Amino acid sequence: MSKNKELLWQSRFSLPFDRDALLFSSSVHVDKKLYREDIRGSIAHVTMLAEEQIVSREDAEQITGGLREIEVELENGSLVPQWEDEDIHTVIENRLKEKIGTVAGKLHSGRSRNDQVATDTRLYLRGRITDLDEALGGMMKVLLDKARTYGETIIFGYTHLQRAQPISAGHYYLAYFNMFNRDRQRLCDLLKRVNVSPLGAAAFAGSTLPLNPARTAELLGFDSLFPNSIDAVSDRDIIIEFISACATVMMHLSRFAEDVILWSSYEFGYLEISDAFATGSSLMPQKKNADIAELVRGKTGRVYGNLMTILTIMKGLPLSYNRDMQEDKPPLFDSAETTLQSLKIFSKMLENTALKEDRLAKLTAEDLSLATEIAEYLVRKQVPFRDAHRITGKIVTWSISNGVTLPKIPLGQFREFSDVIENDIYDCLKPEASVNSKKTHGSCSFASVAAQIEEAGKLL
Ligand code: ARG
Repeated sequence: MSKNKELLWQSRFSLPFDRDALLFSSSVHVDKKLYREDIRGSIAHVTMLAEEQIVSREDAEQITGGLREIEVELENGSLVPQWEDEDIHTVIENRLKEKIGTVAGKLHSGRSRNDQVATDTRLYLRGRITDLDEALGGMMKVLLDKARTYGETIIFGYTHLQRAQPISAGHYYLAYFNMFNRDRQRLCDLLKRVNVSPLGAAAFAGSTLPLNPARTAELLGFDSLFPNSIDAVSDRDIIIEFISACATVMMHLSRFAEDVILWSSYEFGYLEISDAFATGSSLMPQKKNADIAELVRGKTGRVYGNLMTILTIMKGLPLSYNRDMQEDKPPLFDSAETTLQSLKIFSKMLENTALKEDRLAKLTAEDLSLATEIAEYLVRKQVPFRDAHRITGKIVTWSISNGVTLPKIPLGQFREFSDVIENDIYDCLKPEASVNSKKTHGSCSFASVAAQIEEAGKLL
């Protein structure tokens, strides 16, 4: 445990900082998560300081050695960050002083906590973008497998949550594949703006010391260097963009969750979730609930809230650094963790679902969703589409009021509505014929789905 805690800025004041004020302003409980990034940034900084002869090689080696030991202590729990240290940067600096004495103070030559925390945040974001990219790739792989398994299984496609037209189930799964692919592209694009080093901006105006920010950028694997030191310490756009990208992933997941919840219900009965991913009721023995999907849908609200939090924190903040910005971390960490966990568990649950193919085959064969086929059949027989639509509407009404499904309507009855209808009408009143009659690019036919699967496979 650190003793003789001293705040980094205390010397100018005649009274010690009020304990309640310190408790209120301490961020250790949150930013302790950044210790690896913080130590990495410090080692790069001191390496550069030694190369530029701002500190001696021996001092730099002592500092680096001490920092590496502190990383191990934090890792194995022998050093427990205390709130009295104000933030993780000070926890590490105070511990370094305990270990190597006053030479520890040289680490902060030409560096402020403002460029330090900005650096830590960018390193953290880089790691989380990589994690999310992997998790999205995992989800896309599951979706591609589902599309392959169910490429020739016919389900209902919906608009307005009304059965609209029969489609290949593979087509449905590939729709989500495309959403998660865009999420991946969004994060990949964001990485360009994240991977810019702010280190060397110091408090906000730069330094009188002959720092080499390009070298620390290189040591930390950043692609480029801040163009402006004020912006370097006060830019939180990357956090806003990141949480926004997380919110979009969660929005996609919550739409998918809604489908899973509905489709696994008794009323729909299209989908079976493995018992390993469902919960029961302590009171109602028949219940099988899609809790994982429901929780993902619920957690989406948390991530949306985080986006509003960070936007509101930044609104109206004068340049450059303001302490308000410390509040960026809870929404950032929560969004990264919630989105990653949601993606991983949802992918795993999805792997453990199966479509109820027999029931779907029975339902789709008899359904009014084949009505569009009749309208398009009439169009092929030169009936103007508006008339075809009207005629088909009348056929649908007749079907409902007489309790006769479309494929079972006798030819004579069909011809009452239009005399262009012939025996070949029955060829298109099969869901498979309906699905495969679609000829356009990216449509729901088996051939189109096979082509989409081919392209999707190349993406992974
Ligand atoms: N804990 C602070 C944060 O996260 C570190 C920067 C402190 N800088 C300062 N000028 N007080 O924003």
